[in-house]
Amino acid sequence: MPTFHVDTPHGCYPVIVGRGIVARAAQYIPSKSGKVFVISTEDVWKHQGAALERGLESIAHEVLHLPGGEENKRLHFVEQLAEDMVERGGDRSSIVVAFGGGIVNDMAGFLAAIFMRGLSVLQVPTTLLAQVDASIGGKTGVNLVSGKNLIGSFHQPVAVLIDPAVLATLPEREYRAGLYEIVKAGVIREPELFWFLAEQSSAVLAREDAALDRIIADSVRMKAEVVSGDEREADLRRILNLGHTFGHALEAQTGYRRFLHGEAVAWGMKAAVYLAENAGYLSAEASVEILEEIALYGPIPPLDGIRADDLLARLVHDKKTLQGKVHFVVPVRIGEVKVVSGLDEKQVLEAMRTALA
Ligand code: GLY
Repeated sequence: MPTFHVDTPHGCYPVIVGRGIVARAAQYIPSKSGKVFVISTEDVWKHQGAALERGLESIAHEVLHLPGGEENKRLHFVEQLAEDMVERGGDRSSIVVAFGGGIVNDMAGFLAAIFMRGLSVLQVPTTLLAQVDASIGGKTGVNLVSGKNLIGSFHQPVAVLIDPAVLATLPEREYRAGLYEIVKAGVIREPELFWFLAEQSSAVLAREDAALDRIIADSVRMKAEVVSGDEREADLRRILNLGHTFGHALEAQTGYRRFLHGEAVAWGMKAAVYLAENAGYLSAEASVEILEEIALYGPIPPLDGIRADDLLARLVHDKKTLQGKVHFVVPVRIGEVKVVSGLDEKQVLEAMRTALA
């Protein structure tokens, strides 16, 4: 099975991409672990729980649930889970198995980061977005009303198990939302992946095994390389934020209810393309190629009723804003981006208005 390695000062671990890997989950629980707590949502558990039950049948484990939905990615649910774990005998030798989409990966990862000052966590992502992005690299956390992921911690897992077979039942909208993160991977660092997505959209949208396994493996390899090069987002890792500055503002502005994360990133990438072209970083030709690829994997829910000024005000609260300066990741060609700051507010507003038009 293709295995990629994340190698950081705070943890080295394998990211394994393979059909059927969920059925071998027990092999990835460290032998000295105490109680095993699987954290999932009721919905994921209903549809996918049997596969993980088979994978863990040789070891005792308990299943705890979180509510789904980005609007529920809040601190009090993490606290509630911690209380449940204490009641059930959790201690410092316990391990968390995060089984779900990006929200579960982030919340269960954060719980593991802070419960009794830190437990091991095994990430088993069940959505495309979580498989290619959220589960890898140790970012964990919850939202505040004022902004996305504003409370959190870096906490690297012991392993990430990615089973493309679990995506067979993923709702179409969630699948497409995950594809936008793969488009992002192509734009920032993987030109061959970008062109594969452009040329093989029928196979990708039909979830054909070979196409799906390839785009997942390419994205995972890229993410493992980037995180290994810069765990704490001091430099290289910032490229992963293409589309996120605007996208996070959009999610917060709409109460985390209107857009899936990948959809907000798709809008954010469009805004970044307009910004890059207007500021002279990106050719008109490359701009069209990126916009066409985003359209290929649409539709994205419309932006009706959202004001550019409100989004601009939100950018100030983004984690990527440092000392009042908003940083944007902008494409400069297919497969390469640049981090820019200090852009003229009018240019930013203009790009947002174009995206909103
Ligand atoms: N999702 C962006 C990152 O992991 O850095």
